[in-house]
Amino acid sequence: MPADGEVGALDAIATTRSIHRYKSDPIPDDDLGRILWSATRGPSGSNSQPFRFVVLRDGPRAAKAKGLLGDAFRRSWAEKSGSEGWKKGSGAKPDSRKARTARAMQRFVDRFEEIPVVVLVCALRYRPPHPYEGASIYPACQNLLLAARALGYGGTIAIWHVACETPLRELLEIPEDVFIAATIPLGVPEGRHGPLRRRPVRDLVYDDAWQGEATWISDEPDARLSSPGSLSHTRYRDSSSD
Ligand SMILES: Cc1cc2nc3c(=O)[nH]c(=O)nc-3n(C[C@H](O)[C@H](O)[C@H](O)COP(=O)(O)O)c2cc1C
Repeated sequence: MPADGEVGALDAIATTRSIHRYKSDPIPDDDLGRILWSATRGPSGSNSQPFRFVVLRDGPRAAKAKGLLGDAFRRSWAEKSGSEGWKKGSGAKPDSRKARTARAMQRFVDRFEEIPVVVLVCALRYRPPHPYEGASIYPACQNLLLAARALGYGGTIAIWHVACETPLRELLEIPEDVFIAATIPLGVPEGRHGPLRRRPVRDLVYDDAWQGEATWISDEPDARLSSPGSLSHTRYRDSSSD
């Protein structure tokens, strides 16, 4: 087990980064079992536990599935990096954070098939698709990542499986009434976990009412802050009510 010592819960929450670069080391069954067991401890509405985990390792079907996913991830990153201008602005300077992240992402998708374990997190559907259907699934995903972190591994939540969903379902015999909520690659990180970069906490926590200033809260002293303007999406507004 490559764990770098015990990690407290609060430390794990503050340092569990999305890992996109992996060593080729396999994940032993005991560790993988513990990680998935921890995922299954996640909360769900009425304790319905609709999550199901399809684990892709190195069998022939898993290799094919990783190939489908690898192609889908490469196409998705090519589209995202182009449309979001990852090679423009500071991204044109090789030493910038943006350029380093882009290189890590390119490597991630180029070597996707070599990632030791890929978990498809699926959800049984009991009713038509609705806005909260991921709500009983994503806590389990975060448990999975935190358990992996505790045992010295790393991973990331990804949704780029949507670009190969039809052949992937067919290959893995995933029924139509099952929602594929996330793809989580897992392995021994090549880099390290470390402090997450997030917006200042007072941008995100309001007191008493919407945008009420929460004067009683501050970032932890070693927090890494992202710039307030980093949200690239425009806010959704339902124009049907105009
Ligand atoms: C719902 C969700 C979808 C995501 N989809 C992708 C994805 O398709 N591909 C990917 O490389 N990362 C994906 N991510 C990872 C995020 O980009 C990452 O968590 C975010 O940039 C913050 O990184 P950090 O946790 O290392 O700070 C996703 C994360 C979430 C929570």
